[in-house]
Amino acid sequence: MKVALASDHRGYELKERVKGFLAQLGHEPLDFGTHSPESCDYPDCVIKAAEAVAKGEAERGIVICGTGLGASIAANKVRGVRAARCVSIYDAEMARRHNDANVLALGADTLQPGYALHLVRAFLETEFEGGRHKRRVDKIAEYEAR
Ligand code: RB5
Repeated sequence: MKVALASDHRGYELKERVKGFLAQLGHEPLDFGTHSPESCDYPDCVIKAAEAVAKGEAERGIVICGTGLGASIAANKVRGVRAARCVSIYDAEMARRHNDANVLALGADTLQPGYALHLVRAFLETEFEGGRHKRRVDKIAEYEAR
C-alpha cells in the first residue's frame, strides 16, 4: 500500500528507518520530508502527509516527531484524518481495530527504533473491525463535517 511519511528533525532518523522497512515489506513510501536532520517545524511536513491520506493519495500515513504529540495534533487537524499516537503494539492494533486510524504518530525520543517498526507493522497489518466501532467513527466524521 502507499504510505505517506513525514517527520521533523527529531523524527528524521526514525523516518528513514521506517521508509526502508516499508519498502522491505513491499509497501510504497511517499516521503513528505523532512529530508535532513536540520531543525524544522513539524506541522510543515506532517500536514502535507496527512493531506495525502485525506485525499486518498496514500492509504495510510506515519508521522514522527520527538514525542509524537505535535505530529498527532497537527495530523488530526486535517479533515478525514484519524491520527493515533501509539507507544505499544497493543495501541497500534487497537487504533486500527476500533478507531480505523489512518495515520500512526510515533515519538522518536520515546520509542526504541526496532520496537517502533513492530508498531508500524501492526498498524499496517491490522484490519478495522467495523460494526459498533464504525458507528462511533461515523459520529466523529459527522461532527467534523458540521
Ligand atoms: C521539537 O523540538 C519537538 O518539539 C517536536 O519534535 C515534537 O516533540 C513536538 O511535539
